[in-house]
Amino acid sequence: MTHILIAPSIIAADFGHLAEQVREAEAGGADWLHVDVMDGQFVPNITIGPFVVAALRSLTRLPLDVHLMIVQPERFIEDFVQAGASTLTVHIEATNHLHRTISSIKESGIRAGITLNPATPLTSLEPVLADVDLALVMSVNPGFSGQRYIPASTARIRKLRHMLDAIGSEATLEVDGGINMSNAREVVEAGATALVAASAIFNAKASVLDNIDSLRRTLYN
Ligand code: DX5
Ligand code: ZN
Repeated sequence: MTHILIAPSIIAADFGHLAEQVREAEAGGADWLHVDVMDGQFVPNITIGPFVVAALRSLTRLPLDVHLMIVQPERFIEDFVQAGASTLTVHIEATNHLHRTISSIKESGIRAGITLNPATPLTSLEPVLADVDLALVMSVNPGFSGQRYIPASTARIRKLRHMLDAIGSEATLEVDGGINMSNAREVVEAGATALVAASAIFNAKASVLDNIDSLRRTLYN
């Protein structure tokens, strides 16, 4: 059975205790750490930049899965690579030069990912799908953690799974937004191989470790 990657997003972590939260996620069996970068322009929120990615890099051995919700992401590839990103995922709505952007991410030696907003047709991924290491289905409108999973996302995951299989791609199929203990299994059954979760993992209801554990258990029970 494929190992499903769990990528806690630090966007919902307690930033006053970021180092502890990251260590807890690592100890709890997180596969990647998801880092949501927002610029206040592509999305109506501002989060963090390369400095925090560099700080995270020195805190953990986990791969850093960096999700760029910024306009013209090509301007900052070098900075995020230098900071220690393992994967850089760009939005197809955010650049006029998607192919060039993906090429330069790959040329810098890290994994390249693409993603798209819930209302953007999946067919717009076709020209670059064979070139990417990761394709991310947004299951909420990007900008904030704690939103509800958009039910139509499941059909999109299934469709993207078919598109990837049809071209023999082994790219990671990641899903981001509103993932929790009640829908993770459905998302994986539709074909996802990586799950991002922020509010389901970093919350006061249980420890980070227990939350990751519960999420994983829902996949295999
Ligand atoms: C949405 C971000 C997500 C999100 C996840 O803009 O890309 O990573 O914060 O948060 P939850 O899991 O709480 O929906
Ligand atoms: Zn994200």
